[in-house]
Amino acid sequence: MVMEQRIQQLRQQLQKASYAYYVLDDPIMEDSIYDQLYRELDKLEQENPPLITPDSPTQRVGDKPASQFISINHNIPLYSLENAFNLEDLQAWEKRWRRYTEEENIASVEYVCELKIDGSAVALTYENGLLIRGVTRGDGTTGEDITQNVRTIRSIPLKLNLDNPPPILEVRGEAFLPIDEFNRINGEREEKEEPLFANPRNAAAGTLRQLDSKIVYQRRLQFFAYTLHLESTEITNQWESLNYLQNSGFLVNPHRKLCRSLEEITEYFQQWETDRKELPYMTDGVVVKINDYSWQKTLGFTQKFPRWAIALKYPAEEVPTTVKDIIVNVGRTGAVTPMAVMEPVHLAGTTVQKATLHNSDRISQLDIRVGDTVIIRKAGEIIPEVVRVLTELRPPNSQFYQMPNICPECNSPLKRPPKEAVTRCMNLSCGAILRGSLVHWASRDALDIRGLGEKIVILLIDNGLVDSIVDLYNLTSEKIAHLERMGDKSANNLINAIEGSKKRPFARVLYGLGIRYVGSVNANLLANNFSSIDQLSQASFSDLSSVYGVGEEIAQSIIDWFSIEKNCDLIQQLKEVGLQLETTQTKINNVDASLTPFSKKIFVITGTLPTLKRNDAKVLIVEAGGTVTNSVSKKTDYLLVGESPGSKLTQAEKLGITKLSEEEFLRFLKSE
Ligand code: IVH
Repeated sequence: MVMEQRIQQLRQQLQKASYAYYVLDDPIMEDSIYDQLYRELDKLEQENPPLITPDSPTQRVGDKPASQFISINHNIPLYSLENAFNLEDLQAWEKRWRRYTEEENIASVEYVCELKIDGSAVALTYENGLLIRGVTRGDGTTGEDITQNVRTIRSIPLKLNLDNPPPILEVRGEAFLPIDEFNRINGEREEKEEPLFANPRNAAAGTLRQLDSKIVYQRRLQFFAYTLHLESTEITNQWESLNYLQNSGFLVNPHRKLCRSLEEITEYFQQWETDRKELPYMTDGVVVKINDYSWQKTLGFTQKFPRWAIALKYPAEEVPTTVKDIIVNVGRTGAVTPMAVMEPVHLAGTTVQKATLHNSDRISQLDIRVGDTVIIRKAGEIIPEVVRVLTELRPPNSQFYQMPNICPECNSPLKRPPKEAVTRCMNLSCGAILRGSLVHWASRDALDIRGLGEKIVILLIDNGLVDSIVDLYNLTSEKIAHLERMGDKSANNLINAIEGSKKRPFARVLYGLGIRYVGSVNANLLANNFSSIDQLSQASFSDLSSVYGVGEEIAQSIIDWFSIEKNCDLIQQLKEVGLQLETTQTKINNVDASLTPFSKKIFVITGTLPTLKRNDAKVLIVEAGGTVTNSVSKKTDYLLVGESPGSKLTQAEKLGITKLSEEEFLRFLKSE
């Protein structure tokens, strides 16, 4: 047989076998045979590289890890879904959409009910039947190009199973990790002492953003397709589109149902509330979609959601367990959080051993004691909480629990400031505060020092090498190379990463300082309004609280922070070692940003801009001295309007806010 033909035949067979295994869940070939045929194909392709095609089964894993992900504007935004938490919410939704159509008596409406898969949304583009791009949901408007990674998902076809594929087809769906796979990955991570994923959803999202597609390939993500975007089509409703997706080679969840009344939807919801426990993947509710596309079109979208769909969520899962101990954890702000250590128990897809008890008021309210049987719940948060204590099961002689009055880390007295619920360690030199502040300083949104996680921070502190943030900048490779599990290479990498952090802009340094209430958004707002740390430290309460977005609580917290001498010393030392403690004025065509027409102006962006990505527009505005906010208000100065603008446009028109097209905006920038 001619070699080209053999290659074709091998590809078809492997493709069929993989489809049967991963999509139909009905294997037709033994693993060992698959491996042999795969190796034969791989060898033939290696010997004849020009014959390699992107849809070959050998091309699922990329050769090189990506250095970063590129952001991509979604042609059609990825909307989120409105949540209903009970059947009354569902009825209210039905009334709302009927009222919106102004035809309250539409007789027969079909709803497609689907399971709500707890994973991460992904948008796929196919050109002439070939997968050309996979993008994360991101903020719904812009996502990240993760094509290399989605290619590794075996239930995503690299080539559509259609004789006449359309020129362009977009598919959306949920990438997720089956529970078994999630447990396997976490088991491996535990062995390697790596941090565990909190739940399958986080693990799926984290895996999709892995730079090395080999790791993604090993993690065996799956994908359920649920949305089809196809121009000029015969398809007129959601039900047909799911069938089309299935026929094109996608895995479509089999538990979908066409319902004709709220009663039928309720029945479906209640059935899956029980049956979902048997599924090999996590679901967190059901999604109800009006079937007919023409109704969907009439109803359209609010700013965030389609009016024609709703997610009916299951209540948070609750399980009983017993309390083995009650401990307290000291955070980077000195806040002392009591935690219950419990008999390990399976809850919402993960094994849980600790639950937060929030503060001493909550402890008194619960009257929780060691030995108690408690009900714990996870309502989407990572750390579960104790809902109630089953006092009827309490062992005799149990002791009332009292919060410690000395810090378990540094033995200094704990205080609970008046009017606050939180107990705090007030010793600024407390080891827990130092450890937490260093970890926060090095975190991704702050100074982003790769390799400086909690374990290394502890190692540095325990070896007496670091006693404050500034000590990091006096470390050398020689000083740290001898530390346990370090070595020359890691030592050099760490020192380089620390050195690199000196280039991070002022806003990130400000966030890294860990001033209470100054998160990364507020740090950006402050850095836009006060061009240096000196200006910020001298600002009065009214200067601070008059900044758009900065309230009185934040203003007071900043004043309190600068009133502590130790903090002012730290700033001085950070200046000396070369951290960025002022805004580098960006010049646009050599004009100082504070002099541009956009200086101090508040922008809102709506719709898809013709050439700029939303993030790039944001950067240009901030560089020109302006601020970008999410919602239109009286304070908004300009609305930057792109294609298919949302309701922000109507709101801005009502308030008489100046609109700018991208062209006008760029012209303005250039003219200065
Ligand atoms: S439809 C405009 N269908 O739930 C249509 N979403 O909470 C929007 N999800 O972002 C999505 N299963 O990531 C849809 N069968 C399903 C889904 C589903 C899970 C996710 C999706 C979405 C989120 C909204």
